[in-house]
Amino acid sequence: MKSIRLTGERLVTGPGALGALGELEFTRAMIVTGGQSMFRNGTIDRAKALLSQRGEVAVYSGVGANPTRDEVERGLAEMRAYAPDLVVAIGGGSPIDAAKAMLLFYEWPELNFDNVFSSSLPAKRTHTAFAAVPSTSGTASEVTHVTVITFPELGQKLAIKTEALRPDLAILDGEVCCSLPAHIAAQTGMDALTHAIECYTNRSKDTFTDLLARGAIEGIFQWLLRSVAEGDLESRQKMHEYSCMAGMAFSNAGLGMVHGISHAFSARYNTAHGLANAVILPYVLDFNRQDPWVAAQLATLSAALGGDVVERVRALSETVGIPACLKDAGIPEADFLRDETILIDNSMLGSTKVNPVPMTRETIAPIVRASYYGG
Ligand SMILES: [Fe+2]
Repeated sequence: MKSIRLTGERLVTGPGALGALGELEFTRAMIVTGGQSMFRNGTIDRAKALLSQRGEVAVYSGVGANPTRDEVERGLAEMRAYAPDLVVAIGGGSPIDAAKAMLLFYEWPELNFDNVFSSSLPAKRTHTAFAAVPSTSGTASEVTHVTVITFPELGQKLAIKTEALRPDLAILDGEVCCSLPAHIAAQTGMDALTHAIECYTNRSKDTFTDLLARGAIEGIFQWLLRSVAEGDLESRQKMHEYSCMAGMAFSNAGLGMVHGISHAFSARYNTAHGLANAVILPYVLDFNRQDPWVAAQLATLSAALGGDVVERVRALSETVGIPACLKDAGIPEADFLRDETILIDNSMLGSTKVNPVPMTRETIAPIVRASYYGG
């Protein structure tokens, strides 16, 4: 028996879906967002106007990429001072993930970063509603029960997972991401593709997650190029929806070694998550496909796509401007050589534990090296 959860209470999708914020009941709302992009494209003003018809609104901004423990604690202090009963996270995966961690510690003050990884976590928020409005089509944090926080002092990114983190309301409004720069659309779209492929080749998948993941893979191959090249509303909305489907799938079935290795690099060098995944994905698939079960899954995808899926991934990556290796992505070789042992150790953590082929330090080391140098 298995329990499947695809979204919070409600998913609203389509251009103009942001208007759903105007239907929420609350007294004090706090918007959590990133840098300037959501201000510049008018989304924050629109959200404030919709929410202020219903109650008070405050904005907390400045969450950076790969949000850290310190950033979460700064936002948490603001949240405690303002005492909202609704949190609205607007932006890429980073502000949504940061808002999730703030919300967990805000609603349960006895929890903190020192005990959260050893405590049994609460399943349901009771005081604070939570809405998420993604501006990138990649992490699918708007429907998942996961937040990933960076601990620079450990050189690690660690995931916190509990149902209390899943947003009640997910808003997929393509208009919010029409101003997304092409290279961010490319990197985040490749993150979504990585989610879908890692889920599709995860042994825990089931009938539901299999179809969601496969649908997302086919949809991303159909729409990502146009989303990157033209950035029109239709392609951005489609990428939003296929990214979300990939999230529904992986949050139930799990990921794999691509995410294990990419977290090791991103935590040390602040490499963009989607960029790292996109680079690492074909190297991991080349390794995993030596396993007959994985080879059979990839053969099904290849038949659906009309060409070898790993070669299609490589070609798509190249076309949307992803470098062939992490060295070309700008990580200095001296840093890699200095850190190689710890990178291998940290690559064994997280989703590598659910890779379809069980890994050891000895078997993962050449993949880490290939991801860095290429070839
Ligand atoms: Fe990811």
